[in-house]
Amino acid sequence: MRSRISVIGSGYVGTVAAACFAHVGHQVTGLEIDPDKLVSLRRGRAPFHEAGLDDLLGSGLSSGRLSFTGDMVRAMDRSDIVFICVGTPLGREGHPDMSATESVARAVAGNLRFPHILVTKSTVPIGTGRWLATVLEDSLPAGSSRELFRIVSNPEFLREGNAVQDFLHPDRVVLGGDDEVALAAVADAYGPILERDFPEAQHRAQRVPLVFTDITTAETIKYASNSFLATKISFVNEIARICERVGADVTEVSAAMGLDPRIGGQFLDAGMGWGGSCFGKDVHALVATAQRYGYRPRILEAALAVNRDQRVLVVDELLGHLKLLAGARLGVLGLAFKPGTDDLRDSPAVEICERLVDNGAVVTAYDPMVPQAAGPPGVRRAPGPLEAAECADAILVATEWPQFLSLDLHRLRERMRGRLLVDGRNLFDPARVRAAGLEYVGVGRRSSAPGLLLPV
Ligand code: UDX
Repeated sequence: MRSRISVIGSGYVGTVAAACFAHVGHQVTGLEIDPDKLVSLRRGRAPFHEAGLDDLLGSGLSSGRLSFTGDMVRAMDRSDIVFICVGTPLGREGHPDMSATESVARAVAGNLRFPHILVTKSTVPIGTGRWLATVLEDSLPAGSSRELFRIVSNPEFLREGNAVQDFLHPDRVVLGGDDEVALAAVADAYGPILERDFPEAQHRAQRVPLVFTDITTAETIKYASNSFLATKISFVNEIARICERVGADVTEVSAAMGLDPRIGGQFLDAGMGWGGSCFGKDVHALVATAQRYGYRPRILEAALAVNRDQRVLVVDELLGHLKLLAGARLGVLGLAFKPGTDDLRDSPAVEICERLVDNGAVVTAYDPMVPQAAGPPGVRRAPGPLEAAECADAILVATEWPQFLSLDLHRLRERMRGRLLVDGRNLFDPARVRAAGLEYVGVGRRSSAPGLLLPV
């Protein structure tokens, strides 16, 4: 059955949700208050890069199932289910800033002409469900019924660069609430995704797991999932430090660890640590929530601390080899927080570039997707990786873009004046780098080639 959906906020989560719900057959109205973004969305262009998203926006708009508006009244009148997808950036003392959610709630309350189901989809602090209900109750026009809204929590687990695929083929859909009718309506909206009944659906025989729970548990599932993944990366980065000291190679350690299905091979890549708009914000928020309720989450604190140090470590590595950073020329490959995106939010690459510039280094960076104008201040930009290596004393691989693997390392070496390649993402095979006449330094990898390598 076709649902009438509105999606408030056209950031990553909102735009992907709007385009994907329209793709699976629903009537979707996206609300965006920024006039420039609205113009772009109406032309079928997302205000950020995300693989496959513009195609879905285009087909949704031309089918008439998807539209965008800047008018809250129109969005409310055209929908029964409202997904709240506005930003919840890091606010004071580790807690997310809920001011955008609060103003949306007040505007929604003023426009409830018939019953709506309000779904929190952006990552919101644990306890938001009840807080939201109170804000709505207090903002309803005098005489309006509390029956005009029901609240459901539906955390989103999409990854940037893979967002459309993650939305249409999720590992699970989590719905939290205490109103069976509302939960069933939102589950219906997910019907085609759960049943894999839409154009180009994959794994058609397998139904997507659907988890029903209460609101607070749904909110906690999101934080626990992201915090676990972040902790898993910090764990392997800690193992990398131990590897460096004892002469082991972390890439081989993690590959073998990952063969145990209880551990799993994903999110075990050691490197410069995690970044992006979610992990740091969510781990900080979970720490802040735990502390607010009288518990000190030592594992999460350690995960944050290891991640902070991981960024300093690469700078120390360069300092240890070059001795002086002042006046050193450094070529940096990659600025985005991970491959497949132009997002610089909390990017380890950016923080490290800033540290290097602060230490007097001349930094020239190349990134295949980050626009020339968007890089960190004080960092020169090169049109290609070889240009970034021009006269460089050292190269730092800061984002694991797969295309760097097809670089001609001999030509890279010829452009440099030094020989050092610091692989902050353990992207390269050290033997290949050394064969090109470069000195290889990875994260938690053997300092020299092993004497014996058995075929795997
Ligand atoms: C993450 C979660 O994966 C997603 O489920 C949630 O909804 C939002 O946060 P995202 O921020 O897009 O998604 O990035 P992700 O692919 O998880 O990577 C996060 C960071 O961890 C990147 O900086 C990446 O380079 C780093 N990372 C990832 C590692 O350092 N090692 C790994 O093994 C995996």
